[in-house]
Amino acid sequence: MDQLITIERFIIDQEREYPQATGIFSRLLEDMALAAKIISRETRRAGLTQILGMAGRVNVQGEQQMKLDIFANETIIRINSYGGRLAAMASEEADDLIHIPPEYACGKYVLIFDPLDGSSNIDANISVGTIFAIHRRKSFDGCGVIEDCLQPGRTLAAAGYVIYGPSTMMVYTTGNGVHGFTLDPTLGEFLLSHPNISIPAQPKYYSANHSYEPHWTNGVQHYTRWLQGREPMNPEKGGMDASACPLSARYVGSLVADFHRNLLEGGVYYYPADTKFPQGKLRLTYEAAPLAFIAQQAGGYGSNGQQPILDIHPRSLHERTPLFIGNTGLVRKAEAFIAQDDNGTPK
Ligand code: AHG
Ligand code: MN
Ligand code: MN
Repeated sequence: MDQLITIERFIIDQEREYPQATGIFSRLLEDMALAAKIISRETRRAGLTQILGMAGRVNVQGEQQMKLDIFANETIIRINSYGGRLAAMASEEADDLIHIPPEYACGKYVLIFDPLDGSSNIDANISVGTIFAIHRRKSFDGCGVIEDCLQPGRTLAAAGYVIYGPSTMMVYTTGNGVHGFTLDPTLGEFLLSHPNISIPAQPKYYSANHSYEPHWTNGVQHYTRWLQGREPMNPEKGGMDASACPLSARYVGSLVADFHRNLLEGGVYYYPADTKFPQGKLRLTYEAAPLAFIAQQAGGYGSNGQQPILDIHPRSLHERTPLFIGNTGLVRKAEAFIAQDDNGTPK
């Protein structure tokens, strides 16, 4: 790339392609980028909390320290409350719908987010992330209602994530390709570094928590052996053929980091339904749907093992779902194994 394109400029350039755009949506994305910078700054200091003060204690400056996931949650809420762009928010960290304070106007979008994904990894200084999804509200006026957030991923206006890794990156889509921006810490700006991301046709990795294997269904166990090149599917059905295998295993335990690697390098991440988590573990609205929208925009696919994640109509804010996501052919193969070995229903 021969010029520096900041995320703000990119968002404005995209807005110009829609003459009817009011700019509200663009400001909303810019607010998310600002929240990401603040969370990134705090994440960089996470290892210092032992010295400067732990959660619930007071640090040397006399400030109350917060756990990073609470800090991330409150930062996103604070930055998005007053702009008049949102009708409501929903967060993995909040039991109920988050209302816009009465002193501020309500807008036409709702924001749904996982403020800190992979939070169990923070203490070990391993990459974590933020996931967000934006829907147009369904209700007509006043403040937002829960139904505004309970829409299938297929109707998302935008989705994105931030990864706090060796670099901080923000990756998002508004349904017009997937674009990645890397934070230049000296400028404090997200710069376009990964335009038009598409998942490589030849995958490299599969990502799953193998310690759960004894609890997996026959279909998922068989699928895993197929990914490892240890067992064929006879006859070959649906999805990628076995020439892609064996794949290497990589599992960070932060969904954002595992998804991001597979998006750039090719692969599949799965957190299936099993006997321990019969509904799966991951959240449909905060995690699976936004990432499935991004995957689809990058030429990939997200499934619950039986149907596209994007088609599932959430019934509650914190609904869980099994998730298989990454290269389309690999995800279709998971569906084929589950249909063949589990009679289409996880046991
Ligand atoms: P969160 O930190 O937002 O609760 O999400 C954790 C999720 C996800 O990031 C990760 O892929 C998965 O939990 C890891 O779960 P296991 O430890 O069971 O593998
Ligand atoms: Mn999460
Ligand atoms: Mn979380």
